[in-house]
Amino acid sequence: MGVRVGRITRVSGPVVIAKGVRGARMYELARVGEEELVGEVVELRGNLAIIQVYEDTSGLRPGEGVKLSGKPLSIELGPGLIGGIFDGIGRPLTLIAKEGGAFIKRGVSLPTLPRHRKWNFKPKVKAGDKVREGDLIGEVIETPSVTHRVMVPPGVKGRIVEVVKEGAYTVEDVVAIVSNGTKKMEIHMRQVWPVREPRPYKVKLDPKVPLITGIRNIDLLFPVAKGGTAAIIGGFGTGKTVIQQQLAKWSDAKVIVYIGCGERGNEMTEVLTTFPKLRDPKSGRPLMERTILIANTSNMPVAAREASIYTGVTIAEYYRDMGYDVALMADSTSRWAEALREISGRLGEVPGEEGYPPYLADRLAEFYERAGRVICLGSEDRRGSVTIVGAVSPPGGDLSEPVTQSTLKVVGTFWALDKALAEQRHFPAISWLTSYSLYADSLGTWYAREISPEWPILRRRIQEVLRKEAELLEIARLIGIDALPDRDKLLLFFGKMLREDLLMQDSFHPIDTYSEPRKTLLIARIIMKFYDEAFKMLSEGVPLEKITSPKIRSMISKLRYLPTLKVEDEVSRIEKLITRFSMKGEGTYESQI
Ligand SMILES: Nc1ncnc2c1ncn2[C@@H]1O[C@H](COP(=O)(O)OP(=O)(O)OP(=O)(O)O)[C@@H](O)[C@H]1O
Ligand SMILES: [Mg+2]
Repeated sequence: MGVRVGRITRVSGPVVIAKGVRGARMYELARVGEEELVGEVVELRGNLAIIQVYEDTSGLRPGEGVKLSGKPLSIELGPGLIGGIFDGIGRPLTLIAKEGGAFIKRGVSLPTLPRHRKWNFKPKVKAGDKVREGDLIGEVIETPSVTHRVMVPPGVKGRIVEVVKEGAYTVEDVVAIVSNGTKKMEIHMRQVWPVREPRPYKVKLDPKVPLITGIRNIDLLFPVAKGGTAAIIGGFGTGKTVIQQQLAKWSDAKVIVYIGCGERGNEMTEVLTTFPKLRDPKSGRPLMERTILIANTSNMPVAAREASIYTGVTIAEYYRDMGYDVALMADSTSRWAEALREISGRLGEVPGEEGYPPYLADRLAEFYERAGRVICLGSEDRRGSVTIVGAVSPPGGDLSEPVTQSTLKVVGTFWALDKALAEQRHFPAISWLTSYSLYADSLGTWYAREISPEWPILRRRIQEVLRKEAELLEIARLIGIDALPDRDKLLLFFGKMLREDLLMQDSFHPIDTYSEPRKTLLIARIIMKFYDEAFKMLSEGVPLEKITSPKIRSMISKLRYLPTLKVEDEVSRIEKLITRFSMKGEGTYESQI
């Protein structure tokens, strides 16, 4: 189509109106003004093209030119993404200003992938091989943690005519030529993909494998599947960012895409300065060797914020296509929705609920629908997944607001952060009463098979105890705890124990920060074993004070700070003690320790 030129007639914040561009199309990339700011056509009105600009538009004036390229907003995909820090449209951020401020000079065309860097490409095909989309052409060690699979791009099929020898190449070098009989196509290590279009796969699979997070509350009670979706919803300071960062550090995904979306500049600066220093707690390697950061702080242009989640999810899908499990964190989608609202307002669209555009719910659904566990394109049987975890910060913690409601309609797991818990410094403040996971049953089958058959049973029983505890606390508020029968008091004792010794978890404690499923199981099991024996003893007439002796409680309380192997030993000690005690039906724990 070539480049066509029009003129700016009006500038309103991030929105620019241009006239005189022939054949403008929706979502076409635009270069706006003398500085050639990056923008995208978002609406067509007669001969006017309405463009949202991803950069600061101050100083831009009517009369300046607008160039349309015919190409949609796209991102470069290839080696060099991992470890990178990008803005919402995929430009590398190098300069980190103190307040998370101006990272990039306006109008500069910075390629996403480094141009001069050479990668050692190892071919996996030879001349004459038949290939189709998704097939492996070669491999590059992108980082010590991630091997980059160079694949035949979607839509390409034929025979390899030529392939380079193993050696060092840049992302622009041709590494193979594929011919379909009539046409020859050059294959590079770099692909370009329009961010608003989901990348294709062969088959979507049921999400049956958990994303293991090491957060006991999540893994045991409200798990998310690999390829599933989850929302962390909570008011100001309830712990959304800490959970997202814990997931980025600890979850068993191969690649992490972390989108800092419209958060305060200093919060994002913290991510940008701390992440590069963090080490993968399991491998000891720098975390950035498997992480991609996308940053759009509240002081950066809103339109780029709107684009950032598409840029992020496209990168995530690309690594999924290599057969990897990818987890994407978006913090926070509320700030993303505010960007959508601001642009919609500038476009003069009829506002929906609370000023958000009427298509808010559709956009959110489209984003979360890009999650999934799939059989990837290609002749090989490769499976990969994209798990999406979005944070939502409802103003005033009011869950009836549109972003929360639209998100809840589409996600499989809901982690409800409770303000009261956060105030009591019960972290993670994930409410066991209002959170849910639609994956719990199918993942329970996985846990029963891979960890222990007891897993789903413990989950159900623990939820039951916590539910009863909440009911009893309600009653106790009216009549006083002392008026409750011993059975109820004993249940309250176990409710407290489950909350404090199992669900509470200190992200900043070197050991407690990550709990492998085996450890989570051991703690859950010993508490419930104690629970069963305690109720038996109570019915046999053992006094409550003896059963709830602080000694055993304190032994259980210490478990979460111990490494799994120590927990194994300690739990068998506690178990013996409980059994011996309940068989004798007399004495105190103290006398037997
Ligand atoms: N799992 C945890 N362990 C220990 N402390 C925690 C945990 N989660 C949260 N906190 C404490 O709560 C504080 C606020 O958490 P965080 O910044 O994640 O909240 P937020 O919901 O992202 O807030 P905002 O709405 O401002 O973005 C943290 O700085 C930390 O002190
Ligand atoms: Mg936060």
